Amino acid sequence: MKLYRILIAFLPRLWSNWITLLGTVIVSLAAVTILVALAIDLTSAGLNTYAAAILFLAVPGLLAFGLLLIPLGLLLARRRARAPGGGPLETDSVLAAFTRAMESETVRRRVAFVLLMTALNVLIFAAVSYRAVTFMETPKFCGATCHEVMQPEYDAYQQSPHSRVACVECHIGSGASSAFEAKLSGLRRVWGVATGRFHRPIGTPVHDLRPANETCGNCHQANRQSGTRLGFRVHFKEDEANTPQVTAMTFNIGGLDPRSGSWSGIHFHASTRTQIRYELLDDKRQTIGKIQKLEGGKVIKEWLPPKDQVGTVVGTRIMDCTDCHNRATHIYDGTPDAAVTRAFTDGRLDRNVPWLYQASLGVLKTATPAREDAEAQFRLALDQSYGRDHAGQKPAGEKLDRAAHALAELYRRNVYPKMNLSWNNYPSQIGHGGPDPGTSKAQCFRCHAGDHQTADGQELSSKCELCHEVVAKDELPADLPDEIRPLLRL
Ligand code: HEC
Ligand code: HEC
Ligand code: HEC
Ligand code: HEC
Ligand code: HEC
Repeated sequence: MKLYRILIAFLPRLWSNWITLLGTVIVSLAAVTILVALAIDLTSAGLNTYAAAILFLAVPGLLAFGLLLIPLGLLLARRRARAPGGGPLETDSVLAAFTRAMESETVRRRVAFVLLMTALNVLIFAAVSYRAVTFMETPKFCGATCHEVMQPEYDAYQQSPHSRVACVECHIGSGASSAFEAKLSGLRRVWGVATGRFHRPIGTPVHDLRPANETCGNCHQANRQSGTRLGFRVHFKEDEANTPQVTAMTFNIGGLDPRSGSWSGIHFHASTRTQIRYELLDDKRQTIGKIQKLEGGKVIKEWLPPKDQVGTVVGTRIMDCTDCHNRATHIYDGTPDAAVTRAFTDGRLDRNVPWLYQASLGVLKTATPAREDAEAQFRLALDQSYGRDHAGQKPAGEKLDRAAHALAELYRRNVYPKMNLSWNNYPSQIGHGGPDPGTSKAQCFRCHAGDHQTADGQELSSKCELCHEVVAKDELPADLPDEIRPLLRL
């Protein structure tokens, strides 16, 4: 009974002045949000780092702020009352009025009604919070909330083989939300975006990406045997007919051989039995020091970098899927050439328009318009290019319209001036860094250029057949061997 009295005496104080009232409202809303988030976090795989950062670090901050406002309001009210010439304490008059009012049956019924509606409001707010919290798990939240920041990644993602895989499946994995550390770093990034302090473009590689066996491994079996895969690489000549040149090669992808139990081929690096550990000589993972092969945690073979390669070791890393498939989802065209080639291969740029490859490449290589103006500017540039170089063969206006549209699409997929993102800021790690494997030291050839050797002089192989066999090189589609010609879609 005493507790009830104290409560009845205290409650009216909560709305006796506006500061305290504001505090009460903030505390209530924050508390409901936290309870809902907690319920979701406990009953599902866990919230993602960003949602968790906001909900478990920022909202409690708000709660604390509200809690501070309540006594502050009361204190200020009391001061004002005590000051010379101040009226009676507001709380006292509110309390007196309240007690008087509660004596009437109708008022009591109305108060009960208000309490009921308040309970209903709390339920509605809880449902809204629930929607908000679950929305934070979706790619739309991750990709579109900080629109300018994430737009390049989100655009690339939406057109990738993983467009139905949630960002959190690769970036957060499950169970991460339990780590306070992860939440703190999430909050730091939210703060970074809010204050405009972040890297443009966003840095790569992502240093705190979860180990691939906890992300990619949830869907892809590392020990899958992929065998040998046929692949085509098509290029086009800068001539009147946009002549295609086709290279056909079989990739030795390999994996675990279920019969012998041994790992081979390109996917040997993903072996669950042996690990490849390597020293990084820079943050971008481009220069590689000592490379070790481990089995059961023990080093069984070791390759040293060339003697003239200097640099300090900034870290070590065990190879996983993302050391090669760093562009599994955020796939960009490395160069204007690669972009135009892709559009010719999938038919968005029309191969039958004379000189179009040459003209398109010229335009995309030199123009740097704003994204919104790209189509109009490219239309003009194509017109000028034909007028200058092939005046007699200028295609019909509507063909140039379509070409300009396709080029603008390519441009907007790769160039984001506001994020300082242009061609080849996000290079893939698959390949040998250019058409001439003899001189390259990039991508696979960071290790396989033949300059990493064991102490007794065995090279880490750079033989072409280690990775692929070239079946046909720079052929016209019609000249491809009969067995593979039907497999080419061009
Ligand atoms: C299939 C897995 C996968 C999905 C789905 C995915 N990512 Fe990524 N993401 C990666 C990998 C792998 C990297 C590169 C990691 C590296 O090189 O260290 C990356 C890198 C990034 C980067 C750093 C810049 C870059 O391109 O290297 C950002 C930002 C990013 N992702 C945002 C997102 C957003 C936003 C979504 C959802 C709209 C998303 N990711 C969905 C796998 C994924
Ligand atoms: C939630 C499930 C899921 C996760 C997680 C996932 N993938 Fe995939 N991945 C798929 C599916 C499904 C496909 C086939 C898509 C298709 O063919 O349209 C695929 C396709 C691929 C392909 C072939 C792409 C192509 O061009 O056909 C590669 C390579 C790949 N994934 C690598 C990765 C890597 C690396 C990761 C981790 C960073 C990863 N995946 C994470 C489901 C997943
Ligand atoms: C040493 C680099 C490397 C590593 C490590 C690696 N891959 Fe691959 N993977 C490749 C290459 C190269 C190809 C062929 C790509 C092509 O056709 O362009 C490929 C092809 C694939 C494909 C498509 C072919 C198929 O079998 O369907 C998938 C899916 C794939 N990888 C998934 C993975 C996953 C998952 C992991 C980690 C467990 C992984 N890869 C680790 C280099 C690698
Ligand atoms: C960080 C260094 C590193 C990178 C990067 C790397 N490899 Fe390797 N690779 C190795 C090591 C170490 C071996 C083991 C050689 C041995 O056991 O003799 C190896 C072996 C191989 C093998 C032979 C496997 C077998 O035994 O059948 C192939 C094929 C291969 N790599 C392809 C690739 C391809 C393709 C890429 C790029 C997509 C690549 N590697 C990137 C270090 C690397
Ligand atoms: C360590 C593995 C590895 C070695 C060794 C290697 N390559 Fe490659 N090569 C690749 C990969 C992976 C690709 C596919 C790159 C891509 O998808 O763009 C490729 C692509 C190619 C292409 C097609 C390029 C294009 O876009 O038209 C040619 C041609 C080629 N290699 C020739 C060679 C020759 C010649 C050698 C030997 C001197 C060699 N490669 C050694 C891994 C290797």
